[in-house]
Amino acid sequence: MLTLGILGSGSGSNMQAIFDAIQKGKLRARIAIVLSDNPDAFILERARSQGIHTEVIDCSPHRTRFPEEAQEETAAKLKRAGVDLVCLAGFMRLVKKPLLDAYHQRILNIHPSLLPAFPGMEAWKQAIDAAAPETGVTVHLVDAGMDTGPILEQEVVPILPYDTAETLHARIQIVEHQLYPEAISKFASENNL
Ligand code: GAR
Repeated sequence: MLTLGILGSGSGSNMQAIFDAIQKGKLRARIAIVLSDNPDAFILERARSQGIHTEVIDCSPHRTRFPEEAQEETAAKLKRAGVDLVCLAGFMRLVKKPLLDAYHQRILNIHPSLLPAFPGMEAWKQAIDAAAPETGVTVHLVDAGMDTGPILEQEVVPILPYDTAETLHARIQIVEHQLYPEAISKFASENNL
């Protein structure tokens, strides 16, 4: 069976959506481990409350960098858990060589915009500030860039006249929660995982 490892830094609503899709039989997989670089992230609490094994990635003292040793340790934790596909779900550090080599073409990310537009932090706010008519959600394969790598799936989210950053992000998340499990399922079956 497809064995997933999920990396997140925040609330973990996408991890929850993947878990729920598995429970409903929409995604044939299991989540073996959830890892976070933030020991206080809600994603860890959510995962534990579902009985999923969690571990913290120690990146200290770096605030934003993902040090090479921490990436090697992360790869080892994922391998030990038997993970064959890694899903970034709101993971806010850049993945580089040690992890990319350990999971070549086997790391997915979800991003709240129509990439290549608005990479980086708070993409929904970037879209509002740019007065874009629409934005969306992208699922892509991860490479060494920030929110770059081959695009697998995209879905448009219109920006409404009364949208604030918060209302737009909430509508984007509804789409994310549908799209990510579907994209994982499609990618896994296309790649015989
Ligand atoms: C999601 O909107 C995800 O697309 C975004 O972080 C949020 C995490 O929410 N990721 C990025 O911006 C990646 N560059 P969640 O913790 O509730 O899943």
